[in-house]
Amino acid sequence: MEWTAHPGHGPGSEILGPGNSGRRVVELGCGPGHNIAHLAAHQRVHATGVDLVGLQVRRARSHYSHIGSLTFAAGHALHYLQAAERPFDVIYSIFGAVGIVPPRLLLPAITDHLVPGGLLAFAVPHPRRNGRRAVTHDGPSRDSVLLPNQTRLSIARWEFDASRWAQHLRHAGLTMTGALDLSHPAQDGNPTTLLITARRL
Ligand SMILES: C[S@@+](CC[C@H](N)C(=O)[O-])C[C@H]1O[C@@H](n2cnc3c(N)ncnc32)[C@H](O)[C@@H]1O
Repeated sequence: MEWTAHPGHGPGSEILGPGNSGRRVVELGCGPGHNIAHLAAHQRVHATGVDLVGLQVRRARSHYSHIGSLTFAAGHALHYLQAAERPFDVIYSIFGAVGIVPPRLLLPAITDHLVPGGLLAFAVPHPRRNGRRAVTHDGPSRDSVLLPNQTRLSIARWEFDASRWAQHLRHAGLTMTGALDLSHPAQDGNPTTLLITARRL
């Protein structure tokens, strides 16, 4: 399981705790599904990958439909959570919906759909990547993402540092339990990824 864009760097699935049989896990913004498929294949969890883009979900299903405990759903992360009938033990996002969907909307929806003590983990582009300065406000910044056809799409992204994430998490009823600055050894020394864990109170 990869939490950064650099395979082999940073922690793995241990961040999500022991793979107890029957735990319900969802990835918000699963893309082609490699990480959620890894979890479903190596731990006996009930796993769901959600992605806004139907093409990603079709790719994920075509790769991983043989894994029995794994399902994929196309849709907005927020709408998926709002429609979920049972709470999750673990909700996570890897460069996915967390940081792209307004935190004041997504974080409370995550809290509402975690069991008490349940875990949220998310990796976002580090706010100080490439020498940037972390923002000092609660609004979004402009960023861009590379689309599969190699064009760039301008997006809004919430680029908080760990202490600002902690405030937003606390406001939503979550307690931050860890914040890791991950960097790539062969790069300029700037961190590339911020990995945060939190629990529902
Ligand atoms: C950079 S990809 C990461 C995919 C995957 N997490 C991984 O690490 O390979 C980000 C994904 O998040 C999805 N995404 C962005 N906003 C979303 C939202 N609001 N709801 C669901 N998925 C979303 C995008 O469609 C995209 O597939």
